[in-house]
Amino acid sequence: MTLNHKIVIDTDPGQDDAVAILLALASPEIEVLGITAVAGNVPLALTETNARKICELAGRGDLKVFAGAQRPLVRPLVTAEYVHGKTGLDGPELPEPSMPLQTTHAVDFLIETLMREDVGSITICALGPLTNIALALIREPDIAPRIRQIVLMGGGFFEGGNVTPAAEFNIYVDPHAAKAVYEAGVPIVMMPLDVTHKVLTTAKRVEAFRALGTKTGSATAALLDFFERFDEEKYGTDGGPLHDPCVVAYLLKPDLFDGRECNVEVETMSELTMGMTVIDWWGVTDRPRNALVMRTVDHDGFFELLTERLAVLP
Ligand code: BDR
Ligand code: CA
Repeated sequence: MTLNHKIVIDTDPGQDDAVAILLALASPEIEVLGITAVAGNVPLALTETNARKICELAGRGDLKVFAGAQRPLVRPLVTAEYVHGKTGLDGPELPEPSMPLQTTHAVDFLIETLMREDVGSITICALGPLTNIALALIREPDIAPRIRQIVLMGGGFFEGGNVTPAAEFNIYVDPHAAKAVYEAGVPIVMMPLDVTHKVLTTAKRVEAFRALGTKTGSATAALLDFFERFDEEKYGTDGGPLHDPCVVAYLLKPDLFDGRECNVEVETMSELTMGMTVIDWWGVTDRPRNALVMRTVDHDGFFELLTERLAVLP
């Protein structure tokens, strides 16, 4: 298989972030240049540790993990322990990592990498609040035209919000960063709740991970058993939405998803709708189309891909 994607994963693990990272590490088409951690689901000290735990679970203690922003650009940090547990990765017992945290700041790593690598060669997979990416774009605007694309999990439109009636968690936590990213002129592929709420971790699908009979398979099943308990109650579904792996699955099999180019604006002024992604799906304005917004997904195909890929990990 040929190498198609050089990526940096910006993340706040998070059980679903963890599965997204595992999917990337299991896929020969993808080279992970580094993982940058951001505060989000839990504070930064936990997200960077969790990122390292996941690398080691996948047998990839050689990867580089960088710590980034401790809080959003303007607003105070909002976390989601009520979903992810106290550690952010509640569920399996994962050992404390022995691989080091890099001493370079995540924002410096992003800038250095994008300035060094060929123009248009790097994809950023954004799985958390967009603080690190906005900071990099603000500090070194010359990186913008060098980014191949930002594929992000965030926002929602037809489906509404999950943390307020209007807003999805990643965008809500740092709406100012999200606004800066959507306005940067970088190609964006957006996986909103409209997609991720269709990708449900049903009991049968989780069993398939456990049945792999590997350390990664059992840990994934334990992560998802914990993760889905909150959303199953909230939405009354069999399983919870597996948000972040949609980003990596898009790189591997874009045909699993369908959407259209739209204008997306982020609300930063109104407390009522703070962090709402206003998507001009019907093209009722002449505002520029700044994102490919996904709306549908082949969820069976998605889980087939994920299960088949995770099977190659230890
Ligand atoms: C997003 O918020 C986090 O809780 C998940 O990791 C995902 O990135 C879903 O709204
Ligand atoms: Ca996340």
